[in-house]
Amino acid sequence: MDLYSMRDMRQGMLKLDTAGTGQRVDATVVLLGGTGDLATRRVAPALWKLWLGGQLGRRFRLVGMARRELDDQGYRALLDAAIRASLPAGMPGDPARDGFLDRVSYLRGDVSDPAPYAALARLLADPSENALFYLACTPDRFGDAASRIAEAGLAGTNSGTAGWRRLAVEKPFGTDLPSARALNQLLHERYDEDDILRVDHYLGKEAVQNILYFRFYNAIFEPLWNRKHIERVEISATETGGIGDRGGYYDDSGAARDMLQNHLMQLFCLVAMEPPGDFSPEAVRDAKVRLLRSVPHAGPLEAPLDCVRGQYAQGTDGPAYLDEQRVRPGSTTETFVAARLTVDNWRWKGVPFILKTGKALAERACHIVVHFRKDDDTASEANRLLLSIQPDQRVVLTINAKTSGGDSSEREELVGALRDTAGAYPDAYERILGDALRGYSQLFIRFDEAEEAWRLVQPFLEYWKRHPSSGLALYPAGGNGPDLGALYRPDAGQDKAARGA
Ligand SMILES: NC(=O)c1ccc[n+]([C@@H]2O[C@H](COP(=O)([O-])OP(=O)(O)OC[C@H]3O[C@@H](n4cnc5c(N)ncnc54)[C@H](OP(=O)(O)O)[C@@H]3O)[C@@H](O)[C@H]2O)c1
Repeated sequence: MDLYSMRDMRQGMLKLDTAGTGQRVDATVVLLGGTGDLATRRVAPALWKLWLGGQLGRRFRLVGMARRELDDQGYRALLDAAIRASLPAGMPGDPARDGFLDRVSYLRGDVSDPAPYAALARLLADPSENALFYLACTPDRFGDAASRIAEAGLAGTNSGTAGWRRLAVEKPFGTDLPSARALNQLLHERYDEDDILRVDHYLGKEAVQNILYFRFYNAIFEPLWNRKHIERVEISATETGGIGDRGGYYDDSGAARDMLQNHLMQLFCLVAMEPPGDFSPEAVRDAKVRLLRSVPHAGPLEAPLDCVRGQYAQGTDGPAYLDEQRVRPGSTTETFVAARLTVDNWRWKGVPFILKTGKALAERACHIVVHFRKDDDTASEANRLLLSIQPDQRVVLTINAKTSGGDSSEREELVGALRDTAGAYPDAYERILGDALRGYSQLFIRFDEAEEAWRLVQPFLEYWKRHPSSGLALYPAGGNGPDLGALYRPDAGQDKAARGA
């Protein structure tokens, strides 16, 4: 069921909308950076599944653009191999025989150069043709590519085409607050906001969408969802394994830019935002922006107190970050970050939200843990609610129960697994692409959401720039990461004003 069906659901019309039942779309998808990891491993397989599911019409075409020397046949072979490699074990599939690859072509060129867009214009000569331009190239080229597309009249406010033309922009959206603002300005000078789809694929995950259902369709939790009953909330996305061969990208990025500003902030929004007036895309995005604006950003003195950062050293899980390929000698890029946010509103005043992410850790997991306040009048333990997104999709409520045959209490877990129907619902990119092609904007980031999220991360980035090595904790690869005790200090529940900021 899609989020945009929720209004229908409230009106009593339960509308199931899975990959197989969406409306069929005729469009050309232009994949800029079409030979890269994201394009081949995520986007192409997702498009193929949409094709198999009958969601793409007979006029569907996929055009890959990159600098690598390839012809149409070579590009088809590349995608064929990538799609087959993406299939879960035992799942049949043959993109060559089902007609998908016949619709694939390749355009060689630099996305910053006008020349390939002239060739693209010949391919898209029919103004009634719908087209999605998907920026999957390196992020330093997003602005150039968006400009060239608009200058060639292929999309944007001046293109005047009868068919729709949309621009999907991958993460990271900028590298800090000024660059995100500059990119937004560049895009707004050329495109309508409604035609810009800023991608955060976490929003396409079924378990992430379920957070809203959990909060707003279970009346028993809403009365508890505030500072009176909740002591703190932890939001965590951890990975095993180091950065592998992604050192060139990662060393300029780090954990805060790669995960905290986007994926973790989105989870924070879904957990903490006020109920939107309705579940239209604009109402949900308004609620998220209002929440982000209620978070006081850390001042220069608070930045080091409100975050912990680390870098993995050699350990059981592999070599040190500094020994990975294409990492600068002596790099101080963080591979782990944890930040504490507070929200200055009635619901959450004084409740710390701890957002944590890192690489080369003991566990690969993504979850939200809501810690309820303890009842001091009894010997009970505090209740806890776990919303697990990865590796499994579960809701676990920890309660106190009587020990069997005894007269003391023990902790028990009430476990609710989300339907275990692997492969039966769309994966994150399938959902994202399906929505991009059908024109639903709920799962995409609005310009002000991106900027507000950067506003909260910016003080940490500035502090680290001024003090490159300060507080960078080394942790062994395969371990639990740095000690987060500082974020749980007794004044952790105080808001910024109370701390005299
Ligand atoms: N990989 C993932 O799982 C993932 C997940 C989420 C988001 N993302 C985001 O997706 C984007 C791409 O990431 P990636 O991992 O796919 O990177 P990648 O493997 O390095 O791929 C980059 C692609 O862009 C092309 N390219 C680079 N510069 C170009 C230029 N000037 N003109 C034309 N093509 C150019 C490259 O091909 P040529 O060198 O042949 O030109 C390649 O096809 C990044 O913004 C990343 O943050 C990736």
